[in-house]
Amino acid sequence: MTEQYVAAIDQGTTSSRCIVFDRRGDVVSVGQREHRQIFPRPGWVEHDAAEIWANVVAVVEEALAAGGLTPDRLAAVGITNQRETTVVWDRRTGEPVHHAIVWQDTRTDRLLDVLGGEAGQDRFRERCGLPLATYFSGPKLRWLLDEVPGLRERAERGEVLFGTVDTWLVWKLTGRHVTDVTNASRTMLMNLHTLDWDEQILDAMGVPAAMLPEIRSSSEVYGTARGPLEGVPVAAALGDQHAALFGQTCFDPGDVKGTYGTGAFLVLNTGTEPVVSANGLLTTVGYRIGDRPAVYALEGSIAMAGSLVQWLRDNLGMISHAAEIEELASTVSDNGGCYIVPAFSGLFAPHWRSDARGVVAGLTSYVTRAHLARAVLEATAWQTREVVDAMNSDSGIPLTSLKVDGGMVANALLNQALADVLDLEVVRPKVAETTCLGAAYAAGLAVGYWPDLDSLRANWRRDAVWTPAIDPRLRDREYRNWKKAVQRTLGWVE
Ligand code: G3P
Repeated sequence: MTEQYVAAIDQGTTSSRCIVFDRRGDVVSVGQREHRQIFPRPGWVEHDAAEIWANVVAVVEEALAAGGLTPDRLAAVGITNQRETTVVWDRRTGEPVHHAIVWQDTRTDRLLDVLGGEAGQDRFRERCGLPLATYFSGPKLRWLLDEVPGLRERAERGEVLFGTVDTWLVWKLTGRHVTDVTNASRTMLMNLHTLDWDEQILDAMGVPAAMLPEIRSSSEVYGTARGPLEGVPVAAALGDQHAALFGQTCFDPGDVKGTYGTGAFLVLNTGTEPVVSANGLLTTVGYRIGDRPAVYALEGSIAMAGSLVQWLRDNLGMISHAAEIEELASTVSDNGGCYIVPAFSGLFAPHWRSDARGVVAGLTSYVTRAHLARAVLEATAWQTREVVDAMNSDSGIPLTSLKVDGGMVANALLNQALADVLDLEVVRPKVAETTCLGAAYAAGLAVGYWPDLDSLRANWRRDAVWTPAIDPRLRDREYRNWKKAVQRTLGWVE
């Protein structure tokens, strides 16, 4: 019998990828393409959903060709995606009515005050687990309904559809208008307890229910694909950070992973009951397999990690490839007293301050580009530290190790900085493509390609581990400096 595989499509912030996996969870073939980042004004970030779809078709074809495969060799396909990014399209023509508004976009800044009213930022937190922030889809959708002429009326008549990127892709692939619980949990519109759209929030946000997709589990067959994956069951959808949690096999309460890509996202499995954070973390759905109970998580989202390295490359021209930062930063033994807080889209967890903007603090004539490169890497480590502190306070159980993944963790200097700053063991798995792997796992489980969670756990293998090697007094002093630098970002936008 010819061997079967499972594919995953990862539609991320900067690129779309398709990876084919075998039963061991090893990568068979890959296709990848970048798409345009559209910046119409400072703080605004858009994508062209039609371009994204064209790229997804292309990367699927590339991955199949690279593996010498035809769609009939795929037992299932799973989708994982950049979350919160908001797409609205015409039900009949399939044309997007506006560019997608990307999760990093801050245009809803002022709208948040209106939506919060007297209750403020936490008006909906108990119902949806999230503070009012520019990050989430609900305010972005409200902005579109207010600003695109005639859109609200069309939405009320059911002529236009809303979706996060998973919904857009599943609709393009199968014609079904569905989303999964993890993506829905990032809209601010889903009730965390009922796992259904929350009428009170819809009312307050002014979002017509007729335009919303049906909420399904993360691991079940939504439909059969047409086009480049003709005949393949589309059997999973998870937001990318939830997929990484799944791919790292964080199936038990207390398991935590950190993914270092454009941003950085720490997600802690908290079991089958939602935990409301008292320390600036998000309560979210980790994943839901078929009709089993949903597994909840606490998340610390950091808006800028790898994208700060890209900024150093593209806007400052200090390096020509992202990977060069490690070499440059390694030429000095410390940051020379300099700290960079990348609050380019405000500060996310645990601060949630949309009025913050980036700073470089502690500059003296001594500071060189190598120190700045080091400060860029350390910024990711210190932001992680703030999130880990919040997780320890919320869960009451101090973390002992962190499973890391994502493009940035190829950088050993970053991993060592993480171990030093967090005072934790930092562990990297053999298959670093955990986001795609998680989507493939969820799809494979739905069609019986993998029998159970234990078979997935058995696939997880360790590649390398970093342990703390810093003088604790130095760590404390540096953390105090970092906190001072963070203070200087707050209130910049009036
Ligand atoms: O919440 C945003 C996140 O899902 C984006 O992830 O990896 O595309 O930057 P990434």
